[in-house]
Amino acid sequence: MGERIMTTVNNQNLLQLRFLPQQHIDAVKPYFSQLPDNPYADGAFRKRRYSVVKFINNEVTLQPTKAFVQDDSINTFQGNVERVYENLEQEMLNTDGFKHMLAEFKTMTGIADDTDIEVHQFRMLAIESDTPPAPEGVHQDGFDHVCVCGVSHENIAGGELLVYEHKEAEPCFKMEIKDGLFALVNDREVWHNATPMNKLDAEQVGYLDCFVFTA
Ligand SMILES: [Fe+2]
Repeated sequence: MGERIMTTVNNQNLLQLRFLPQQHIDAVKPYFSQLPDNPYADGAFRKRRYSVVKFINNEVTLQPTKAFVQDDSINTFQGNVERVYENLEQEMLNTDGFKHMLAEFKTMTGIADDTDIEVHQFRMLAIESDTPPAPEGVHQDGFDHVCVCGVSHENIAGGELLVYEHKEAEPCFKMEIKDGLFALVNDREVWHNATPMNKLDAEQVGYLDCFVFTA
């Protein structure tokens, strides 16, 4: 019998799922209606803020903002474009709800105390039929950990998280990003994407609010 080659995948979580208490979601939800427009290629359908933080002893500290760049090997949609976004609101960063999310992220990833945590706050709008929440398609973000946290949704179908064992494979996992879902993806080992979004009622605004944490 041939010997099985042990890979680094063994004994690693590829995907971890939790639901956060609704009270924590409710604490951060109002801040998504104050997201600024963004002037980049995805600006029409992704309102967003972006911060780099450290979370030590239950204190959130903003780190100097660096321009957000994805290599064009990762992002074929707007790769190598330097994008500067407004920081998350200080008041929101200090809510117990948001701190709970950072604590959960640290617990689930096991990252060291002084690790930089990048936070994206998104309102993904369905502006036309099949609006892609992840315009770069099947991708990795170039981190160890990528975590999506569902906060709210309005008049929307789609926007489900897709996870892939290989870039060219069919998705091995698909799940609606429900309010309070905390989905941690092993970004070194698996790939991810999201299904296109459509409005249920074409006359009303339709969106998905979420955070993405990376480290
Ligand atoms: Fe991503």
